[in-house]
Amino acid sequence: MAAAAVSLLLMLLPALCMMPWPAAAVGVNWGTQLSHPLAASTMVQLLKDNGFDKVKLFDAEEEALAALRGSGIQVMVGIPNDMLAGLAASGKAAEDWVAANVSKHVSDGVDIRLVTVGNEPFLETFNGTYLNTTFPAMQSVQVALAKAGLSNRVKVTVALNADVYQSASGKPSNGDFRADILGLMLSIVSFLASNGAPFVANVYPFISLYADANFPLDYAFFQGSSSPVVDDNGVTYQNTFDASHDTLAAALSRNGFGNVSIVVGEVGWPTDGDANANLQLARQFNQGLLTRIASGKGTPLRPGSAIDAYLFSLVDEDQKSIQPGNFERHWGLFYYDGKPKYPLTLRGDGDGSFLLPARGVAYLSRRWCVLKPDADLADQKVGDSVSYACGNADCTSLGYKTSCAGLDARGNVSYAFNSYYQHDDQDDRACDFDGLATTTTVDPSAGTCRFIVEIAPTSAAAAPARDVAGRVAFLLVSFLLLCVL
Ligand SMILES: *[C@@H]1O[C@H](CO)[C@@H](O)[C@H](O)[C@H]1NC(C)=O
Ligand SMILES: *[C@@H]1O[C@H](CO)[C@@H](O)[C@H](O)[C@H]1NC(C)=O
Ligand SMILES: *[C@@H]1O[C@H](CO)[C@@H](O)[C@H](O)[C@H]1NC(C)=O
Ligand SMILES: *[C@@H]1O[C@H](CO)[C@@H](O)[C@H](O)[C@H]1NC(C)=O
Ligand SMILES: *[C@@H]1O[C@H](CO)[C@@H](O)[C@H](O)[C@H]1NC(C)=O
Repeated sequence: MAAAAVSLLLMLLPALCMMPWPAAAVGVNWGTQLSHPLAASTMVQLLKDNGFDKVKLFDAEEEALAALRGSGIQVMVGIPNDMLAGLAASGKAAEDWVAANVSKHVSDGVDIRLVTVGNEPFLETFNGTYLNTTFPAMQSVQVALAKAGLSNRVKVTVALNADVYQSASGKPSNGDFRADILGLMLSIVSFLASNGAPFVANVYPFISLYADANFPLDYAFFQGSSSPVVDDNGVTYQNTFDASHDTLAAALSRNGFGNVSIVVGEVGWPTDGDANANLQLARQFNQGLLTRIASGKGTPLRPGSAIDAYLFSLVDEDQKSIQPGNFERHWGLFYYDGKPKYPLTLRGDGDGSFLLPARGVAYLSRRWCVLKPDADLADQKVGDSVSYACGNADCTSLGYKTSCAGLDARGNVSYAFNSYYQHDDQDDRACDFDGLATTTTVDPSAGTCRFIVEIAPTSAAAAPARDVAGRVAFLLVSFLLLCVL
């Protein structure tokens, strides 16, 4: 009996190994635009403790990839847009990139499965800057991977914003690629089809809501909607995620590429910085999505294929551009310090296990910077100081319907001062502001408003760790040499 099971398993093994994307696996984006990032090893432990199967990186960051060695986590590595022109122009540049950023790590035991050449390069806000270089860069990287003998294992694609496809009627079945880039998209999709690579699209119901005051709130979630979209083929779309996914599926089929698989490269909900960005709605959206993924059910146009998605994102990033909105720095499932923001179960509801925090996080001391009680709010220097602090640190939790909306005017100033003080690693000089500020050991946090204490900088800690490894290796080699002699 056991032997039969083992031999069955052995028979299935090649097939199992060839399935690059296990059904109902959960991926997550790991962005690194933080003033105080957790150590890469802490982040990888966080991924493992919480059972994430796959991770998406925006860049081939050495520390992240080194930490992912032997983790069993599948990796999607991004190439930033500013590298596209160089890769498009030179096969040698692509070969060098693959050697340094893929081959090396694969042989070190990093399970790289996908390379995304460019991040949302066709966004209309880029004014066509990357239209001529993205596809040639993808081709260069593909050739380089083939030369390195990795093209069966590592697929080449591009992470695209959902604005590359649309439906004139609003019905998913009418989906097609954006008219101004149709020819280019068909070249890319044909390339994906012939290489067996997936189409990677970022889908953001939150942005739909943010951009359109009349967008029906409940249509953004997975609990049914009072204003569903009824398609002409009789399908009723209850949420914008399914509708967006199927608009893409229809665009692919319409152009003869119904066999290209779809990976949702980014999907999530922010928790601060906007009236619709809060813990309750983020939890509702992400849990709805995860429960849906866990069900293994596809979308109406692709019922047989489980949704394959990477949540956006792992931790908050306090250095992201807020040009799209103040919510930009609050997409994390975890706060900056690896604490979960709300209870979430990755495998759907009901299994009782919620997200676990990062382990072994070291903080600066429990000290905060606040406005002096006797400082005069009317003082011109107060306004100037707040502008300076907010310009250099992060005040995106202040404002209408944010987590710190309940602060009074003095609280606002203190929040700004503390943000700057923590950002500067609690340097005494960072809590002066022309004599307006003072430090305190009493936590000023109130209600939903958190006055943070930053984590201790990791760069200083990471470098000695490498030095120690180096020294140990040196000692070992010396010892072995001694033995030989
Ligand atoms: C590898 O990737 C890093 C991060 O993007 C980049 O700085 C470096 O130039 C790449 N290596 C090569 C040889 O292109
Ligand atoms: C795109 O064009 C607009 C209008 O000309 C300009 O304001 C914007 O800065 C441009 N963006 C980029 C990324 O070049
Ligand atoms: C892309 O190529 C077209 C045709 O050669 C050219 O007109 C256009 O200026 C190029 N765009 C960029 C951003 O280089
Ligand atoms: C998808 O279809 C195209 C066109 O018929 C074909 O060339 C390609 O090999 C197919 N790809 C996969 C992954 O089945
Ligand atoms: C606090 O700051 C925010 C953001 O600058 C502002 O919208 C709000 O009106 C301020 N609140 C008070 C009471 O000054």
